[in-house]
Amino acid sequence: MDPALEQILNLLLESERAGVVAIDGLLAEVTDPDLRKLLTTSREDEAAAATQLEQTLRAGGGAVSPAVGDFAAKVAAAGTLADRLKLLIHGEEWVARKVEDALALAPAAGAVHEQLLKMANRHRFEVEWGRAELIRLMNTLG
Ligand SMILES: [Fe+2]
Repeated sequence: MDPALEQILNLLLESERAGVVAIDGLLAEVTDPDLRKLLTTSREDEAAAATQLEQTLRAGGGAVSPAVGDFAAKVAAAGTLADRLKLLIHGEEWVARKVEDALALAPAAGAVHEQLLKMANRHRFEVEWGRAELIRLMNTLG
């Protein structure tokens, strides 16, 4: 596997794992049922993305990083629940941009390209959905 592609796939993998941890931290506190639903779906997406990235790295002969990104700690330290949710959405935007970078490094066709395209679309959707939910819930959050 191309070393630059291997590196960015591992960065994404570590970030998705951090997303799972960050969302677990939020779920421990959030009681609003709609927000819990949003977060639970996001958590499933993050975990699925991490699994897919591991598979892609292995299939391409790349090394799989065992690390978890430091993003979860940043979210935990961000302050109010609303601030932490904002940072979480920010993190999804960051990942969406990194997926575009990874796409530029991946072969123009094939399994890696297909998988990254799906990841890109899911993150775009999550960012938009998350923002809309956050606006709606802002008044009910501390
Ligand atoms: Fe993600």
